[in-house]
Amino acid sequence: MKVQILGSAAGGGFPQWNCNCRNCSGLRAGTLNARARTQSSIAVSADGEHWILFNTSPDIREQLASFAPMQPNRSIRDTGISAIVFMDSQIDHTTGLLMLREGCPHNIWCTEMVEQDLSNGFPVFNMLKHWNGGNRVNRIPIGEQDNSFIIPQVPQLKLTAVPLLSSAPPYSPHRDDPHPGDNIGILIEDLNSGRKLFYAPGLGQIESHLPPIMETSDLLLVDGTIWQEDELIVTGVGDKLGVAMGHLPQSGPGGMIEFLDTLHKPRKILIHINNTNPILDEDSEQRAILGQHEIEVAYDGMSLEL
Ligand code: MLT
Ligand code: MN
Ligand code: ZN
Repeated sequence: MKVQILGSAAGGGFPQWNCNCRNCSGLRAGTLNARARTQSSIAVSADGEHWILFNTSPDIREQLASFAPMQPNRSIRDTGISAIVFMDSQIDHTTGLLMLREGCPHNIWCTEMVEQDLSNGFPVFNMLKHWNGGNRVNRIPIGEQDNSFIIPQVPQLKLTAVPLLSSAPPYSPHRDDPHPGDNIGILIEDLNSGRKLFYAPGLGQIESHLPPIMETSDLLLVDGTIWQEDELIVTGVGDKLGVAMGHLPQSGPGGMIEFLDTLHKPRKILIHINNTNPILDEDSEQRAILGQHEIEVAYDGMSLEL
């Protein structure tokens, strides 16, 4: 299985256009040892030709242009995108679908809750009906038992939706009424090699169903949004705690580092990094701590094979 990190930042990207925090201003000034990052998206393929795009970020044009296998090269209108999977209906994960309108219909996979948001609060599915009739929207199952599905265009990969406790986006009509399927992680298994990737850019709590999935995976690409619970407050950019945003901080008791330390098999990589997070500074003490725990930080253009 091939995995391409298209965008490794959280909403806003890095640097964020209106942010003057230490990281964003340091990157602009060239005084911070860090890489710019676009908003959250990955692509996964078994054969290197047919790719599943996970999320469509507002930065999609730049992301596609920077990754050769996405370029049209087989017919007059063409793309390496065989299907699109949505992890949730957040703006940083879905807005890019509007930029892909020329390629409609796309093969889209999402939960019922995400389909509702993308038909009501942010009715991008309805809007795109005016481009070749819109998209083919397939349902990701969210039930008690087997939530696996296979995308016909990429049959070597078996996907399993893992419901995660979180809220729908701020714009959603059911923001204050959470449902399973508002936010998911996905386990991706290569049926030829048996190798497994668990991808969860928004992970707020280590619920009891997660450790068995994560400790048997070969690679984890998991929520790296914030270093500390009150990061937006201490950096002066906002007033929300991690818990309110559905993001587990890395540091502290019960944090992501402590949990990842209990897992021995997988390679561990953080993704969906907020621009305030000190781990973006490659010379920071926090980045060194991740290194001591053998936790890596995803960057745009990172290619992984498993
Ligand atoms: C989040 O996951 O909390 C987002 O990155 C928020 C956003 O899109 O601004
Ligand atoms: Mn996000
Ligand atoms: Zn910033």
